[in-house]
Amino acid sequence: MIPVLAVNDLARAKPMAEALVKSGYPVLEVLIRTEFALEAIAEMKQVAGAIVGAGTVTNPNELAAAIDAGAEFIVSPGLTDRLGHAAIAANIPFLPGIATAGDIMRGLDLGLTHFKYFPAEASGGIAALKALSGPFGQCLFCPTGGITQQSVDAWLALDNVLCVGGSWVVPSQ
Ligand code: 3PG
Repeated sequence: MIPVLAVNDLARAKPMAEALVKSGYPVLEVLIRTEFALEAIAEMKQVAGAIVGAGTVTNPNELAAAIDAGAEFIVSPGLTDRLGHAAIAANIPFLPGIATAGDIMRGLDLGLTHFKYFPAEASGGIAALKALSGPFGQCLFCPTGGITQQSVDAWLALDNVLCVGGSWVVPSQ
């Protein structure tokens, strides 16, 4: 389970990471669409055991900024050739978003097999991801988007789901 974090208060970044690591959530995705996100990544990385990545990375410039801030993995809502090539060249774990067969095929062309399934519920939910596992059995997914405490176990039960991301664990307010 990867908590997806919108950090609006930098002073809360480190305590939040400490609480999550202590609670068994060491892998933390910080959305870079808030004002202090890059600073928050640097702060959270100081917490022993935390593995901190950047989410909502949509182009090579944001990728470079996230890596400079210390991000250890990169999550994107979608996949472009530019971003895909840049992430592969940077040799950093990369989870690009896919929602359709064509998206997955573009990822496979780049040599990628691990994807964020986004927006998971709105794109067809569990039934759609199950259907995609037929032609793309070699791929593994991290569904994110609209998943809740109530639905997380059903997603994690799928064979092609390695992990699930979601903001419900730490609501932004
Ligand atoms: C996002 O980029 O907003 C995330 O994927 C989180 O989705 P969620 O808020 O529906 O969990």
